Order: sequence, then structure tokens, then C-alpha cells
Amino acid sequence: MERLQKVIANSGYTSRRKAEELITSGKVFVNGKKVTELGTKVSYEDIIIINGEVINKDIPKEYYLLNKPRNYICSLKDEKDRKTVVSLIDTPTRIYPVGRLDYDTTGLLILTNDGELANILMHPSNNVEKVYIAKIEGMLTPDEIKEINKGIIIDGIKCHPKGIKIRKKDLDKNTEIVEIKLVEGRNHIVKKLFSAVGHEVIKLKREQYAFLNVKDLASGEYRTLSLKEVKKLYNLKSK
Ligand code: URA
Repeated sequence: MERLQKVIANSGYTSRRKAEELITSGKVFVNGKKVTELGTKVSYEDIIIINGEVINKDIPKEYYLLNKPRNYICSLKDEKDRKTVVSLIDTPTRIYPVGRLDYDTTGLLILTNDGELANILMHPSNNVEKVYIAKIEGMLTPDEIKEINKGIIIDGIKCHPKGIKIRKKDLDKNTEIVEIKLVEGRNHIVKKLFSAVGHEVIKLKREQYAFLNVKDLASGEYRTLSLKEVKKLYNLKSK
């Protein structure tokens, strides 16, 4: 179940803010009943009608795998007019990124107009694994690695990495390349995790997302996901 305004926005009909206006002004019907309360929960199977039009029917689903370049923002619009990841994808459909990578983070990002799949991928109960490669200031000590492996409280919630590996050390520059595997999807989680043990992240790339990687895509390149891949992603939903 999802909030009505989110389902409307995810259908590509309009933005979430406009959807809220439509709901409160009595223009939205769910399964034939007028709904004016924001936050009403609906499922993707419910029939939503706005101004006489069924908005969530027969919209072909699109799925893209992007190798996000640095200096692109994951929101759909930016008040500072920075470039958006969506602008890199050549489609007239209103797609959006599944989760967020920071402006300066590179790597694997899925974009779609399939709200149901986006939900599955982002829901913590489905434990979707992501592998990040971080270049950090300084070297992790064995104690710090132990601490990270035990789990670190970030903003009041424990973050429990599924694995951490040192890939490379640069003794001259006093930096280290670290691979970290997480099922967490909170914003800035990798940077916060390393910061909690006293290391700044200088560079960050998402290398893997579940079984997907971007090895064959140059920075800024994208491809569509195959039906087989989409089905495999749907199967990540915990039974
Ligand atoms: N963690 C971060 O700190 N930044 C990202 O972009 C993704 C995960």
C-alpha cells in the first residue's frame, strides 16, 4: 500500500505537489469513491480516476540502468538548477530514480516509472544488497573495521554492513579504497558510517545493486533492463 499522492505522481500523471492539490480539491476518485484526505493508502491495483480519466492503467513500464556521473542530482527538479539524472535518459515518460545517490556520488542507479518495483527495492525488509567503493582519508585500523562490522548507530538506528574489504592502500597520499556492502538505503549512509569512525569519504561509487552492475557502461551511459532482470528484481520481495 502507498500514499495516494505518491501513486498518482508515480503514474506520471503529475507531480506529487499537484497530486495533493487535486486530492484536497476533490478531483480524485479511487475505485469510484471520492477521496479528499491526503495520505490515504491505496494499492497499485486500485483504479484512480482524475477528471474522468483512469490515470494508472496501461502505462508501459520503463526500466533503466544508469552509470551516474558526478555532479548530477537525483531529484526530479533542483532549485539551484543543477543537472538531473533524469535528463540523461532519452524518454518522454516521467521516470524517477529508485533511491538516491549524492550529487558527487557516481555509479549504479535504476530509474523507472514502476512504483511497485521501486517500493520493493527500497523497502528495508527486502534487504537488497548494494556494494559501494569508497576512497577514504586515512587508513582504517583493525579496531575500526571491527567496530564497523559490529554495526554503528547512525542517527539513532544501527547500520549493520554485510561486509567490508580493503581493496587498495595509498601510503603516500594516506588514502584507502574500501569496498562496503550494505542493505541500508538511508541518505548519505556510507559517508556517515565512515565519518562515525573518523574518516572522510573523498570519492564514492555504487558498483553493484543486487545482481546488477555497471561494468559495461561508461559514465553517463545507460541501458534498459531486460524483462528477465526486471522479474529477478521483483523476486527480491521477501515472501
Ligand atoms: N551513501 C552515501 O553516503 N552517499 C550515497 O550517494 C550513497 C550512499
